[in-house]
Amino acid sequence: MSVPDAPSNLPPAHYFNEDPEVPSARKRIDVSLPDGSFSIETDTGVFSHGRVDSGTKVLLMEAPALPTAGNVLDLGCGSGPIAMTMARRSPGSAVWAVDVNERARQLTRDNASALGLTNVTVTAPDEVPDDVVFDVIWSNPPIKVGKQELHDLLNRWLARLSPDGYAVLVVNKNLGSDSLAKWLTELGWTVKRISSRQGFRVLTVKRLK
Ligand SMILES: C[S@@+](CC[C@H](N)C(=O)[O-])C[C@H]1O[C@@H](n2cnc3c(N)ncnc32)[C@H](O)[C@@H]1O
Repeated sequence: MSVPDAPSNLPPAHYFNEDPEVPSARKRIDVSLPDGSFSIETDTGVFSHGRVDSGTKVLLMEAPALPTAGNVLDLGCGSGPIAMTMARRSPGSAVWAVDVNERARQLTRDNASALGLTNVTVTAPDEVPDDVVFDVIWSNPPIKVGKQELHDLLNRWLARLSPDGYAVLVVNKNLGSDSLAKWLTELGWTVKRISSRQGFRVLTVKRLK
């Protein structure tokens, strides 16, 4: 995972602020994947303005095929490249996209609507109904929020996997992917490294059987 450069004429903004103060400057980008391309808008104050993050691209290239139905989650949706890909690859699934950043949520809503993806629900984390469980979670998690907050985030959402559900996480090798895998294993999750590419590890996380 990497942090996008802020445009030089604007004050720095954390992409994980709930309400970015930096003025909006939307920029359309192409998300090109082997199974098809689509375009989305990105924005300042939202992760990866003006480009697809390399870690996200690795996750989208390496993640196993999705189920054809059920609930799937893009945890920390940003502008929504992951949620859009889930919705395109699995039109029968209900795709949930959550983010603390309100601008990110509006952007993801607008991107889903422009692409005609009616199976995407975008919400704040606290607004996901308690009875929803996920068969698959895909995430390029917000490593930069700090270790404790990241651990709290993963504990909260991994607990909502269905009994046979699993998560796919992409984490930069230099930003602690191996120690994250170790921590998850110590908690009793089954963690597998399914890919190591361009400095990123792609991990699957499942319940121990
Ligand atoms: C590394 S970015 C990935 C964004 C997008 N999925 C992508 O691949 O371009 C991580 C995202 O997690 C969001 N985030 C940070 N803390 C969060 C939390 N507690 N709950 C949900 N999302 C959070 C950030 O706002 C950010 O959009």
